Amino acid sequence: MILVTGGAGFIGSNFVLDWLATEGTPVVNLDKLTYAGNLENLAAVRDDPRHEFVQGDIGDRALVESLLEKHRPRAVVHLAAESHVDRSIHAPTDFIQTNVVGTLALLEAVRSHWSALPAAERESFRFLHVSTDEVYGSLGENDPAFCEATPYAPNSPYAASKAGSDHLVRAYHHTYGLPTITTNCSNNYGPYQFPEKLVPLMIVNALEGKPLPVYGDGRNVRDWLYVADHCAAIRVALARGAPGETYNVGGRAERANTDVVTAICAILDELRPQRAPHRKLIEYVADRPGHDRRYAIDSRKIERELGWRPRHAFESGLRATLQWYLAHMDWVDAVRSGSYRQWIDDNYGTRGAPRR
Ligand code: NAD
Ligand code: DAU
Repeated sequence: MILVTGGAGFIGSNFVLDWLATEGTPVVNLDKLTYAGNLENLAAVRDDPRHEFVQGDIGDRALVESLLEKHRPRAVVHLAAESHVDRSIHAPTDFIQTNVVGTLALLEAVRSHWSALPAAERESFRFLHVSTDEVYGSLGENDPAFCEATPYAPNSPYAASKAGSDHLVRAYHHTYGLPTITTNCSNNYGPYQFPEKLVPLMIVNALEGKPLPVYGDGRNVRDWLYVADHCAAIRVALARGAPGETYNVGGRAERANTDVVTAICAILDELRPQRAPHRKLIEYVADRPGHDRRYAIDSRKIERELGWRPRHAFESGLRATLQWYLAHMDWVDAVRSGSYRQWIDDNYGTRGAPRR
């Protein structure tokens, strides 16, 4: 069995569902259930005996040690984190606490457990750390895409906290020999993404006839990765990745934000023609402080060495995502708690433009 952290969040819940459907071996899912973690995401496996959910903090070393001792997982897949850049700008402390201090506590618990295992289990054990392309900083229009050797240059408190966690993971391999693998991926999109991130926020706002707030000039570029492709990459890295290595995972789908939002509007015009044209809702608003201009991932290492490649084109992945949200507005309502409404008000103000 495997231990997953953050398995009630966006990527984590997609990963747990994907894992149970493909690999089929049991999962213990440790998640604190912050605002971003929702058991609704795991409703399909509520009664599945292969899935055990534990509410708790990765920073609770005694809890993590007891889970490791009880279940003896062959791997830990570490996804738990504070993940939203705008929130890290408003309040960085939680990001350092979970992403750096929490990852350190998790690594300590894992190291203590792993070093006492019999040799064969120690050999096959893996700690897979899920990180981000944001640790590499920002690219100019004509710069080559980020590769695994690109120097770290994190620009937001979120990116700095993920960079800190990556360095700790690297050090635990180098110093203690812990068999770690790190994946650095680009922007994910797909079902169950909390509606604070660009794609689901724009879908939900457009459906409700609210403004679509695009930061700055809208020409910032992200490399969009369908979440199912990311889950497959994690599985492949776990199965065939070499300890101590890092793998970049990207969608081969660079798009400027304006083009993403316009594409969402065009699909909605087709699926919900009553409010067409949805693009009239687009508003260019104050920029994000320190806004990285461009991310792009060079995935050739994982493609060449592990045989992974993205299977979903951006246009079909985006359409599938929109169809999922249209069919799951009850999920959207369920996850938009009072704290969600407070966040929207804090970040965007009541008129839909960011308060900077
Ligand atoms: P998310 O915010 O949707 O989910 C994070 C999950 O972690 C939530 O379920 C939350 O309850 C849980 N969590 C937070 N703090 C915790 C703690 N202290 N202990 C236990 N659980 C805790 O995030 P996501 O978008 O699913 O991202 C998952 C991982 O992938 C993160 O490490 C993130 O940095 C990384 N990542 C995300 C993207 C993306 O586009 N979403 C891209 C690259 C990397
Ligand atoms: O690149 C990987 C990263 O992608 C992950 O590590 C992060 O966890 C994840 O949140 C994401 O970070 P971004 O900042 O790129 O994602 P976000 O969805 O917040 O924003 C995407 C782009 O859209 C970015 O250029 C900012 C812009 N944006 C975002 C929001 C929420 C807007 O223009 N308006 C908005 O309201």
